[in-house]
Amino acid sequence: MDRRKLLTLTVAGTGCAIAGAVGIPVLINMAAPAFAEKDGEDWRPVGPLSDFPVGAMHNREVVISDQKEHQKLSRRSLYVWRKSEQEFSVYSRACTDLGCPIVWDAGSEWFFCPCHGGIFDKEGERKAGPPKRGLWKYANRIQDGILEINVRSVPPMA
Ligand code: FES
Repeated sequence: MDRRKLLTLTVAGTGCAIAGAVGIPVLINMAAPAFAEKDGEDWRPVGPLSDFPVGAMHNREVVISDQKEHQKLSRRSLYVWRKSEQEFSVYSRACTDLGCPIVWDAGSEWFFCPCHGGIFDKEGERKAGPPKRGLWKYANRIQDGILEINVRSVPPMA
């Protein structure tokens, strides 16, 4: 083997090693969210069913401790509407415009955002103002008489 071939093989081998060392972790990082989506459930209790009379809208806060984030605590502010014995709608209080906390008005049965006049109906649909979409709705379920929400079913900032 002459020196030219040896040098070419050495450069090509070094290039492949560097590409593998840098590229494989980058590919793993890029693919990680796709795998994390499968693990996209994090059910947290909101309260016993007896706390939620049928037909009424309830304001609740859920405190979440995140074990992966060194016990970091976060709060989710919610409106819970018990539509029937077994059916709930659970909304984030964060307006879908810029995140101000919406307020429920029992008289009109609409949600109002005090920041820029966003209005949403009882089903969470946008009715007026700058928001481009309806309210964020949490997936919910009933487990052993407790209403639970999947905190990963809405964006983290909601
Ligand atoms: S933040 Fe609610 S309308 Fe702008």
